[in-house]
Amino acid sequence: MTDANSKRLGHDQAYKWRLVDEQGMSQNLDPDTKTIEHLFLDFMQMEDFAKHPIIMKKAQGVWYEDVKGKKYLDGLSGVFVVNVGHGNRRVIEAMKEQLEEITFAPPLYSTNLRAIELAKLIAGITPGDLHTVKLFSGGSEATEAAMKLARQYHRQTGNPHKYKVISRYEGYHGATMGALAASGVTSRRTTFEPLSAGYIHVFPPTCYRCPYGLEYPECAVLCATMMENVIKHEDPATVSSIIVEPIGNTGGIITPPQEYFKILREIADRYEILLIFDEVITGFGRTGLMFAAHTFNTVPDIICMGKGMSSGYAPVGGIAFSDRIADAFYGEPSKGLQFNHGHTFGGNPLSSAAAIASITEIKERNLPELATKTGGLIWKRLKELESLGIIGEIRGKGLIIGVEFVKDKETKERFPSSASFGIRVGKKALEKGLIIRYDPNWVALAPPLITSSEEANRMMDIFSESVTEVLKSIGS
Ligand SMILES: Cc1ncc(COP(=O)(O)O)c(C=O)c1O
Repeated sequence: MTDANSKRLGHDQAYKWRLVDEQGMSQNLDPDTKTIEHLFLDFMQMEDFAKHPIIMKKAQGVWYEDVKGKKYLDGLSGVFVVNVGHGNRRVIEAMKEQLEEITFAPPLYSTNLRAIELAKLIAGITPGDLHTVKLFSGGSEATEAAMKLARQYHRQTGNPHKYKVISRYEGYHGATMGALAASGVTSRRTTFEPLSAGYIHVFPPTCYRCPYGLEYPECAVLCATMMENVIKHEDPATVSSIIVEPIGNTGGIITPPQEYFKILREIADRYEILLIFDEVITGFGRTGLMFAAHTFNTVPDIICMGKGMSSGYAPVGGIAFSDRIADAFYGEPSKGLQFNHGHTFGGNPLSSAAAIASITEIKERNLPELATKTGGLIWKRLKELESLGIIGEIRGKGLIIGVEFVKDKETKERFPSSASFGIRVGKKALEKGLIIRYDPNWVALAPPLITSSEEANRMMDIFSESVTEVLKSIGS
């Protein structure tokens, strides 16, 4: 840390970040891992993190091991990423082979064999006629591109004023400015406001706490039908796309009723609006079928992909879109019909090789089916915890499962925010060697799709102990 930084932060010794063991003793570590002063992490208060940094050193299967030798069960696939598990030989060998052949092709003039192969592979597993693929390096690039593709599509098919994007409160579509404007996580947005104009938000299908105070099914899925009202008020001639996560992570694994997307599909069609599924988390087997579009039996116009696409072996993302959209971009070059968008690393051969191997593994081992089976086991173990009286709702599909905690099951009253129940459960689990996603009122489990029954049970043993201990500690 530079002197200037030390002064600015009002620290000197405190920023001599070292790894310390439980007794506060410095550890004799590899010199490269001694300090983290040059690094900023995502959404992380570095001063806090530096007090007890977790630095991962290796990983295999569903296990991580940190530099201190502590082992962690990966109950979150890193962060909804490592679908085929860590250390997968097929992916590693494919990448090694690719390194020897070619790792970058000049994007202004060419493409490469792996990018072509990956696009074909994806076109073969997406629903409906989403046969055309554009490749990127991650989820935010994918969602940004999807929204831009929708705008340009309308512009060159006779609807030049369609530019607005409708998305949902509590949704997350990425950290870049456009993706953030579409996101609805207040805490992540307000720091950077004002964001781009033309981004409209509607309430998500949080049935357990319905924003309209209704109950399913008497509600007639008002959260979906309300979309039509919003479009009419915005003027349909100005709305280009609706972007939604089929299952919303950031709001607490928000899982809509089965007919929700069918209603959105009909509304989108009625007003010539493109329906975009952000499947950055739900894609590649997570919900029990290859895409959540299959799980919810709805074909969107565009699917956004990232995370589990390469299982994290290389940064990769993409969009797959319908023939109707693709057709609008073919034609005489002088008419300027090409999609005016790109990134240097889109279709990178090494990333593509990783994605091909990971997707092939998911397909050949039928990992989506395994996700349903293991998800069922986790669900059953969570049900057993209901006798504690603090599980308000369990939700999700396949291997993306959320648990909402409540102080009172009858009234759905939450624990006081000072209790931070979900956070304490998540931290307790981490201490005991299980990684999950946590929030003040809910937690999420999303282990790799390869997780065996034995491993899932082990995860759930730790989870159950963590919940019970936290409950005891707050005296409930
Ligand atoms: C649903 C969803 N979309 C988009 C993104 C952005 O992906 P990335 O972080 O790879 O840019 C995320 C990231 O968490 C996500 O969860």
